Amino acid sequence: MSNFYRETVTHVHHWTDSLFSFRTTRDQSFRFDSGQFIMMGLEIEGKPLLRAYSLASAAYADELEFFSIKVPDGPLTSRLQHLREGDTVLVGRKATGTLVHQNLLPGKRLYLLGTGTGLAPFLSVIKDPETYARYEKVILVHGCRHVAELAYGEMITSDLPNDELVGELVKNQLIYYPTVTREPFVNRGRITDLLASGRLFEDTKQPPLDRETDRIEICGSPEMVTDLRSYFTKLGFEEGSGSKAGHFVIEKAFVGSSSMIPKSAVRFSEKIMLNQIDKRRV
Ligand code: A2P
Repeated sequence: MSNFYRETVTHVHHWTDSLFSFRTTRDQSFRFDSGQFIMMGLEIEGKPLLRAYSLASAAYADELEFFSIKVPDGPLTSRLQHLREGDTVLVGRKATGTLVHQNLLPGKRLYLLGTGTGLAPFLSVIKDPETYARYEKVILVHGCRHVAELAYGEMITSDLPNDELVGELVKNQLIYYPTVTREPFVNRGRITDLLASGRLFEDTKQPPLDRETDRIEICGSPEMVTDLRSYFTKLGFEEGSGSKAGHFVIEKAFVGSSSMIPKSAVRFSEKIMLNQIDKRRV
């Protein structure tokens, strides 16, 4: 088990029947950059059962936070959703991922576009002072089917602006734009449609997209990711990676998406981890 930290659950919150969050202790030696993910899971009959999870906590926070869906009959999440304070989870030692500042060229505005649990990495990014040092404006767009799924809205609008470290930066630089597709809400529609119609820019009082100044981070379902990649590529934006910074970067929201284990997770995983990863649905 030396590939993992054994962390203790300190808090569990259920948002809806299908969404929950939890916090755990954090080993002092564990380091990550905001936007990254790790392998996380449970020890089942002596073996680790793991999935890729974005870290939703700030990179400097004392605890780790995870935001998860509950997949019916999913080997991991059907167990994980019953976590209680005091339970133990396994947390991989090596964080990785493409949603990191250095994969983007310098810019003025940062768009964080997430659907469902694809919000998770951005919760870390919006608590990172470096985000506000690099960009004048940060526009966080969270798309969900239903209002109840707009998790963390209260934290973003009420708690974060009063945060000791980033509160002032958040007040001046962060724009939060939640949008819902399947019931009435102040903002309606898919992120793709809000971009194409220009509605997002009107509502947030931002100028139209500009390759010179705008940088984008995307995290959501495989379909949403595919559509946004093709949308931005057609506009002449280039995808960034660890080897070459670009105008936008992408990560799939892992748990619940059809391709569960991203290549980047496999790359960093040690053999023992790979052998034990169950590649079926969570
Ligand atoms: P919709 O309700 O029109 O399908 P999901 O729960 O399926 O992951 O969806 C989360 C949100 O992402 C929903 O609001 C959904 O809208 C939206 N969505 C699904 N597919 C896409 C896509 N290809 N592009 C943009 N938004 C999408």
